[in-house]
Amino acid sequence: MSDLETILAFASDIAKQAGKMIVEMRANAQLNHSYKDGIELVTNSDIAADTLITDAIRDQYPTHQILAEESNPDLSTIEHNETPVWVIDPIDGTVNYAHHHHQVAISIAYVIKGKIQVAVVYNPFLSELFTAIRQKGAWLNDQPIRCSATTELNRAIVATGFPYDKTAQLDQLMLRLHKILEQCADVRRLGSAALDICWVALGRLDAYYETVSPWDCAAGWLIAKEAGARCGYFIEPETPMTHELHSEHLLVATPALYDSLKCILQDAQL
Ligand code: IPD
Ligand code: CA
Ligand code: CA
Repeated sequence: MSDLETILAFASDIAKQAGKMIVEMRANAQLNHSYKDGIELVTNSDIAADTLITDAIRDQYPTHQILAEESNPDLSTIEHNETPVWVIDPIDGTVNYAHHHHQVAISIAYVIKGKIQVAVVYNPFLSELFTAIRQKGAWLNDQPIRCSATTELNRAIVATGFPYDKTAQLDQLMLRLHKILEQCADVRRLGSAALDICWVALGRLDAYYETVSPWDCAAGWLIAKEAGARCGYFIEPETPMTHELHSEHLLVATPALYDSLKCILQDAQL
């Protein structure tokens, strides 16, 4: 086994352990809800999954850095370029999780010198394990995956999401949505950015755009790239990025649609 295959096996195993735990906690009605900053839902399962995953990484790889949504959301962790960095969203789709929907994932990315090397996104409710190794491919439950071959915008299904705090930018979000809905076949708001991106990788969706945080998109980004999708930004970062974890104005799309979608989203600027 190569080093990255060993990392992938380890990350898949901890994602499955965390997945089993959050499914059981929900089934046993063990959920407590609270709100970060008064608006962002977090449950005791988010914290428990974060602890399970980060403890396992610390045990196995004590010198590595960890950026994890609940236990260490400090984005400067990304700048630690000399040691590998793990980027963790213990539950992506917390609102879905708390409302007994199935679109929920554990997202784990392994990054060396700013480049995502290994990715795992696991939906424990559908038993779907999305994985990728850089330059080796992307898989769903060990079967290779490919993005859609859609070439017409009016046939495209496009996913997006909205931030918890909508007060500052509701008009901007609505303008983008309006323009996409006008020109594409339809829009989905499924509630898990990591799965939205994996679903583009798999061809269940043709594109996805949103501004999120690195833990939402890091693993999905590699999975989508390895499945042949184009990953970038509909508004380019102001300074050139030294890592692949920039997460604002993300656009992930099947290649034939990427440029047209980028133009639509760029033009939809207030
Ligand atoms: C959220 C989900 C959602 C996206 C939000 C994210 P969380 O993550 O990915 O789809 O629209 O921007 O914050 O809070 O469930 O981990
Ligand atoms: Ca998330
Ligand atoms: Ca989360």
